[in-house]
Amino acid sequence: MRVHVADHPLITHKLTVLRNRTTPSPTFRALTEELVTLLAYEATRAVRTEPIDIETPVGPTTGLEISEPKPLVVPILRAGLGMLEGMVKLVPTAEVGFLGMVRDEETLQPTTYAQRLPDDLANRQCFVLDPMLATGGSLIAAIDFLFDRGAVDVTAICLIGSPEGVAAVEKATEGRDVTVVLGAIDERLNEVGYIVPGLGDAGDRLYGTV
Ligand code: PRP
Ligand code: URA
Repeated sequence: MRVHVADHPLITHKLTVLRNRTTPSPTFRALTEELVTLLAYEATRAVRTEPIDIETPVGPTTGLEISEPKPLVVPILRAGLGMLEGMVKLVPTAEVGFLGMVRDEETLQPTTYAQRLPDDLANRQCFVLDPMLATGGSLIAAIDFLFDRGAVDVTAICLIGSPEGVAAVEKATEGRDVTVVLGAIDERLNEVGYIVPGLGDAGDRLYGTV
């Protein structure tokens, strides 16, 4: 697995505001979108392209276009939905599929409660969006789901990860083409499975349910 942790002052600045407990939901939502767009720039570095001949007003040239089948962007509901606009802003031709997952707050095990994706993902590059990589359980389940349907490679974009979660995803996806792009890797998980210092519950903060 390839892991890329962003190293840019603009990303750290925006993450700092996001982490602050006094940041209200509207600002939190706007910053989440901006951060995803910045992280998507790195996450799409290996997006598949092919040469295309075009005419500029001055003459012919060869450029690149994103190959078919188009990349599939998969936000993990609920919190991943807050990342979708920021991603499709950068890759407007991507298709979008949805996975609804929730982790049990006691056992920390994820359950899939909804899915709306093409049945056949053969030859697809998939981009999973989930702001928090905590134990890694949700991301591992999402990655398994996509590979089981034929995806060829999966890139996850997460705002914050824990060292434990990143290690768990790495172990569970051994031998598969997986990349994880993160805004930051924090210190640790606490005893109830939250990332420390993290930002709290991303879904609650995005949608104002705190
Ligand atoms: C959060 C978060 C991730 C998951 C991470 O979702 O958005 O999906 O927890 O935890 P894990 O790495 O330990 O699996 P949650 O289950 O709270 O659902 P929500 O997005 O609906 O709030
Ligand atoms: N889910 C969140 O939203 N935040 C965490 O810190 C862990 C899981």
